[in-house]
Amino acid sequence: MIVLGIESTAHTFGVGIIDDRLNILSDVRIRYNPPKGMGMEPFQTAEYHSRYAVDVVKRALEESGLSVGALDAVAYSRGPGLGPCLRIGATIARALALKHNIPLYPVHHAIGHIELVRSMFNLSNPLVVLVSGGHTTITAFRDGRWRSYGETLDITVGNLLDVFAREAGLDFPGGPVIERLASKGVRYIELPYNIKGSNFQFSGLLTRAVQLLNEGRYSIEDLSYSLQETAFSIIVEAAERALASLKDDIDSIAVTGGVASNNTLHNKLVEMAGLHGLRVYRLEKKWNSDNGIQIAIVGLRMLEHGIQGVKPEEAYILQRWRFDEVDIPWM
Ligand SMILES: Nc1ncnc2c1ncn2[C@@H]1O[C@H](COP(=O)(O)OP(=O)(O)OP(=O)(O)O)[C@@H](O)[C@H]1O
Ligand SMILES: [Mg+2]
Repeated sequence: MIVLGIESTAHTFGVGIIDDRLNILSDVRIRYNPPKGMGMEPFQTAEYHSRYAVDVVKRALEESGLSVGALDAVAYSRGPGLGPCLRIGATIARALALKHNIPLYPVHHAIGHIELVRSMFNLSNPLVVLVSGGHTTITAFRDGRWRSYGETLDITVGNLLDVFAREAGLDFPGGPVIERLASKGVRYIELPYNIKGSNFQFSGLLTRAVQLLNEGRYSIEDLSYSLQETAFSIIVEAAERALASLKDDIDSIAVTGGVASNNTLHNKLVEMAGLHGLRVYRLEKKWNSDNGIQIAIVGLRMLEHGIQGVKPEEAYILQRWRFDEVDIPWM
């Protein structure tokens, strides 16, 4: 079985092709980077994607050496994400499915991040730390769905890093730039640390960090270091609280989403996991950020499980959609 997946929730338009032995047959992506100092404007981003989308599909097929006729299904990211961007992916997926009469599967983007790391390491009962631009959640699989055992109540950690970087006049995305600067930081500056039960918040932390930045009292290296230390300690504490509440059922920890590429966060998770006799699983950097394979792999699971696809005319998008609303019958 061979499935093509289309990712188009935000900055990345990606097409990936995977087979049922989890061989990655192709992975082609383009990425829109907004002008310096600007956020991602939905229509500009979509305009960029629409210029390259068909070419990305063609290149993905070429790279796999397959014709469209060899595909058994098409999957696309239904959401959550920017409406104009999602529509481009959905439209191309509809056209492919309709023309070649193959099943069409709508996929939740975050379930894609989770399923990719779970499948690639063949994890049976992981605690997943999902850290990205759109999510910051500690989740585990219970009763047919991925459930939240702690999450941000306001902005995501990706957003925290990106906005702080933007305020500091640094490049987008901010995460990798801040990671580099933080490695040169030497002094910890105390910042707001908000965790309530199993949930947490980052907006107070962002406000204070930006305030200190504008006061100009501290170096950007020390501020980046302190921002990372505070935000990542919060996430790791929330993950440890989740572990405690889930008792001994969890057999591993997985970390995924764009921020999973951060080594400071990874090291903190490894240290905490070690105390509980658990290993931390993380994919190679390029698979933490958005890609078509994360969508294709969920489509593959749906196809293998005999789930019926949606009719092309019903292949709508959902800009807002929680991952814990999605039934996962294949697990
Ligand atoms: N090395 C790094 N350290 C910290 N953050 C990083 C690093 N590399 C990337 N990021 C961050 O990852 C985020 C992007 O992740 P990703 O592409 O998965 O998010 P998204 O797709 O926008 O959100 P979601 O997956 O929730 O819809 C950005 O905020 C970026 O700054
Ligand atoms: Mg993502």
